Amino acid sequence: MNTLLLRDNENDIKKAGKILAGGGLVGIPTETVYGLAANALDGKAVSKIFAAKGRPMDNPLIVHIQSANDIERFNLASEFPKKAKMLAEKFWSGPLTMIMPKGSAIPDEVSAGLDTVAIRLPEHETARAVIKAAGVPLAAPSANLSGSPSPTTAQHVMNDLGGKIDAVIDGGECRVGLESTVITLAAVKPRLLRPGGVTVEEIESVIGEIDIDDAVLNKLADGEKAASPGMKYKHYAPKAKVILLKGADNAYIDFVNNNSGAHTAALCYSSDAVRLNVPTFLLGSKDDCLSQAHMLFDSLRKIDEHPEIKLVYARCPSTKGVGLAVYNRLIRAAGFEVIDLEKI
Ligand code: TXA
Ligand code: MG
Repeated sequence: MNTLLLRDNENDIKKAGKILAGGGLVGIPTETVYGLAANALDGKAVSKIFAAKGRPMDNPLIVHIQSANDIERFNLASEFPKKAKMLAEKFWSGPLTMIMPKGSAIPDEVSAGLDTVAIRLPEHETARAVIKAAGVPLAAPSANLSGSPSPTTAQHVMNDLGGKIDAVIDGGECRVGLESTVITLAAVKPRLLRPGGVTVEEIESVIGEIDIDDAVLNKLADGEKAASPGMKYKHYAPKAKVILLKGADNAYIDFVNNNSGAHTAALCYSSDAVRLNVPTFLLGSKDDCLSQAHMLFDSLRKIDEHPEIKLVYARCPSTKGVGLAVYNRLIRAAGFEVIDLEKI
């Protein structure tokens, strides 16, 4: 299949809408990462997403809407819980996905057989325009091959899925660079399943204390059931082995410079780069977790372009604010391997 590269203009958005309404697949920009969209109400169209990505069928998808009214209009949820409404008012449109009891219109392919559905109203104008043009809500996981880092440019999508999907709209670089925050409101107490651009602190300022799912910071034990099926899969792993180094600037730089061979690289803050004597890939700047979120996936993909790199020493980011999302993705890339430089 020839994958069309569409532009971010009215004409091409119309084209994308037609492809989607006809049961096709289109890569679309959002403010978090690029999504691989299909008509969320058409189980057959949705099943093509799983085939193109090589995604396990038991991992449910997020339904993207262009207005909160779409939930009722299309029968997406059997209940729009009060706390979800409060969060929607404050954080939609934006990088927040909410899980609620699913409505009758949701095919099993979307919910992977669960009795809940994940819903998000993206902030990116193009994403909303495409949903409008399609005339239906769009199911969309991140537009990467299953297991590789989520795409933050149209080129990343082309590299992974070119030839397997109908089209990609080039909307430039994604603003946030990490996937949305996922919270369930279908539980007795709201629970964070995946950290993202809307922080725990921001959510708690609206609905009070929430639980943080164990899988956010820790590795699930073998056979343990994941509240969010996506959490059980190995994610974001570049081909090189990644180890997180926890410690201050000097300790990090000394360790890397003293423990590196010909096949080692660093995933470091911009201020570290000049002091390191190995190839460096940037993880944003030290005190700016937004820049870290923005650069992480692009840097992981760049590392993959260098097969000679076998080991990457990465800085361990702070877990405050959006830093929690950066840490959550990076610790998975590292297979949960962390060296505490203060303890060696
Ligand atoms: O920012 C994002 O959320 C991007 C853009 C494209 O919107 N999408 C995205 O989708 O990251 P995906 O499929 O890569 O991640 C969705 C996550 C998975 O971990 C999945 O298991 C979880 O949300 N999820 C979806 N529906 C769920 C449900 N009903 N219950 C629990 N977890 C659910
Ligand atoms: Mg994904």
